[in-house]
Formats: sequence, structure tokens, C-alpha cells
Amino acid sequence: MWSIAGKTVVVTGGTSGIGLEAAGVLATQGASVVLIGRDPGRVDRAIATVQARSGATPRAYLCDFSSLKAVERLADALGRDLPAVHVLINNAGSVFAKRTMTADGTEATFAVNHLAHFLLTERLRPLLVASAPARIVTVASGRHFKGTMDFDDLGFSHGYQILRAYARSKLANVLFAAELARRLEGSGVTSNSVHPGRVATNIWSGAPTWTKPLIRFWLSRTFISVEAGAAPVVALATAAEFEEVTGQYFNRFTPVSPSSVAQDRGVAARLWRESERLVERLPLSVPHSLS
Ligand SMILES: NC(=O)c1ccc[n+]([C@@H]2O[C@H](COP(=O)([O-])OP(=O)(O)OC[C@H]3O[C@@H](n4cnc5c(N)ncnc54)[C@H](OP(=O)(O)O)[C@@H]3O)[C@@H](O)[C@H]2O)c1
Repeated sequence: MWSIAGKTVVVTGGTSGIGLEAAGVLATQGASVVLIGRDPGRVDRAIATVQARSGATPRAYLCDFSSLKAVERLADALGRDLPAVHVLINNAGSVFAKRTMTADGTEATFAVNHLAHFLLTERLRPLLVASAPARIVTVASGRHFKGTMDFDDLGFSHGYQILRAYARSKLANVLFAAELARRLEGSGVTSNSVHPGRVATNIWSGAPTWTKPLIRFWLSRTFISVEAGAAPVVALATAAEFEEVTGQYFNRFTPVSPSSVAQDRGVAARLWRESERLVERLPLSVPHSLS
């Protein structure tokens, strides 16, 4: 039977919230955890937290997911340093009060939440396949039900709103995970996406200042704990019952139908092509070292 003990698990957004909690739980279960974070101080604190909890020291890498070049360098470093990747948890996520463009010219919510994970997963795909049986868990959201996919204006040059941009990025997560599952068929690598529940984390720290008191109220009254939010992510990464489950969208522990757009294979294929086009704009002569 599949067991996580001794397996290598890469967790993006491992410095806070669901990612940090999942990393801690997985390390206590004997996984060899690899944390990805963007801020050196927060990465150091996350290493210390996981270490205190599990007694094991996770590997950690710095990468700002708003830069495709940084994601390329990360993928190169992981490919060089890790003999195997058995679980990839695509979890890092953010929101932006005002429309923000990355240095690559992509709207930042879409870039961080979807495009960076698309690129990282594609670059790690050969290693995941070589490590099979392996699992890819993409942390999406029930917000994807509100998401639309306008390929003529993916970056909301018109009508940007924080929640619309977030919903689109989470719809992209669900479409990507499903399309990836189709492309990985027969490889021994599964791909699923999950809504973890409404979890009291830092995810809304990028929301407008005037909304913060409301969000704090909301978080304290209606949101579940980080422990409860991380539980379905850990289950998808480890549980024997999900070993061969692929191409599903989970509402916490239950596979459910995502939105009708999220089920549209044509939209998924178009998003894949568009994502390839956006990541292929990368200059080819990027220095391959972690800065
Ligand atoms: N909380 C919820 O209610 C909820 C519901 C549905 C889905 N989700 C999803 O759950 C995932 C985890 O979010 P969370 O709720 O745990 O929020 P969180 O506590 O804010 O954690 C987000 C993680 O992503 C990292 N991150 C953000 N921007 C990044 C960037 N540019 N480059 C690299 N890393 C970056 C953060 O790093 P720093 O520590 O440096 O900020 C942090 O580690 C997200 O994908 C979110 O969309 C959350």
C-alpha cells in the first residue's frame, strides 16, 4: 500500500496557512518535505515550525511566483537536487486589491495562482513521472464557480475586480488540474484539485484596507481552522483511498462537479495553449541558478 513515509513532497506557499500546516503534518508522517516560499525570513520561520513539530528539517527554496524566470530557476534547482518528487502540492496563492502586472507582463493574480504552477508542474513533470506512483494536488477554490475565462482579455485590462481576478485564477486551477490528469493518463501520476473550505489564513492580506475589519469579522465567525483546511489537501496527497483517483475536483474530501466552464474540455485545452504561449515568452538564455 502507498505510504507517504520517506516520500518527497514539494509544497508551494509553504510559509503560511494551508501550505505550512500541510507541510507540518506531512513531515510528522515521515515525508521528506520541500518548502517553497518567497521571503527569506518567513521561509526560515516555516523551517523552524516544521522542525519543531516533526523533528525533521525540511529543505527549502526561495521563489517569487510572480516571476516566471524565478519559477524556471526553481524547477531547475529542484530537478538538480531531488532524486524524486512523489507529491507536488500547488498551493501558493494571493490576491491583489489593484490590478497589478508582473515583470513578464501578466496580470499578477493569474500569474501567481495559475501560470507559475503551470510552468513549475510542466518542468517537474518528467521527474514526477519517473517517481510514479505520484500525485499532484492543486489547491483551487469554490470561488472558481464565479470565474469566467475571457481569452481575449485574460488579464482584465477592462473591468478588473479583486474577486473576479481571483475567481478566474481559481477556475484556471480547476481546468489545469483536469487537463493535466488527461495528459498524464497511464503515467501513474494523478492530478486533482481541491477546495479546502473557507479557511482562516492570510489569503486576504492583499485585499483593500477598508475591507480588513469585515474580513477579520468574517474569518473569526465563519471560517474553519488552518488545521481543518489543510486536512483535505493532506488526504489527497497521502490517503490510500485516493491513490488512483485522478481528474477530480474535490469539495474538501468529496469529489463533486465543478462549474460548467471548469468541465469544458475545449476551454481547458485553450487555457493550456494560452499558458504555454505565455510561459514560452521567457527568454531562452536565463541563467540557471537560484538568486
Ligand atoms: N483560505 C481560504 O479560505 C481558501 C479557500 C479556498 C482556496 N484557498 C487557496 O489555498 C491556497 C493557500 O492559501 P492560504 O489560504 O493558506 O493563504 P496564505 O496563508 O496567505 O498562504 C498563501 C501562501 O502562498 C504564498 N505566496 C503568495 N504569493 C506568492 C508569491 N508571489 N510567490 C510565492 N509564494 C507566494 C504565501 O507566501 P508568504 O507567506 O510569503 O505570503 C503563502 O505561503 C491558495 O491557493 C488559496 O487560493 C484558500
